[in-house]
Amino acid sequence: MTRAIYPGSFDPVTYGHLDIIIRSSALVDELIVGVLNNNAKTPLFSVEERVRMLEEVTGNMPNVKAVPFEGLLIDFAEKMGAGMVVRGLRAITDFENELKMAQTNHKLSPRVETVFLTTSLEYAYLSSTVVKEVAYFGGDIAQFVPENVESRIREKIIKKESVH
Ligand code: PNS
Repeated sequence: MTRAIYPGSFDPVTYGHLDIIIRSSALVDELIVGVLNNNAKTPLFSVEERVRMLEEVTGNMPNVKAVPFEGLLIDFAEKMGAGMVVRGLRAITDFENELKMAQTNHKLSPRVETVFLTTSLEYAYLSSTVVKEVAYFGGDIAQFVPENVESRIREKIIKKESVH
């Protein structure tokens, strides 16, 4: 059985992530979307919220599961019994960092291979950071994220604004 991990921050999940989830889940028996719980970063959404949004958008994909993780990706891969890590490559600017991560992970655990999928052209520009920025300034994000995610972002931003 081929089990792969698609790791990321997913703060929040975008159509670009979803594209990689759909395409990579067709290549393996089981795809675990690993959601990084990183205390060093201050995400817009808690790890529970990010997992929940992923569960909502992948609910119709029987071989996809969203699971939070902390610490090293390679330790998470070992724990989950996964032999493959999937990452999306949008542009050449992603490559340097992705290469370093893949090579570091391969040094740490040669058993785990990193596989790259090139992002579909229509999402090549897209990132969670861009989505959040457009939303903060009142722009239309319907074309970037699924509907449930769009409404969660709006709620979050309204809440933040009412605090300030
Ligand atoms: O969506 P992102 O933020 O680009 O995802 C980055 C992620 C989660 C894949 C990466 O930061 C990661 O694997 N973090 C876990 C820590 C780790 O294993 N570091 C060693 C590899 S360089």
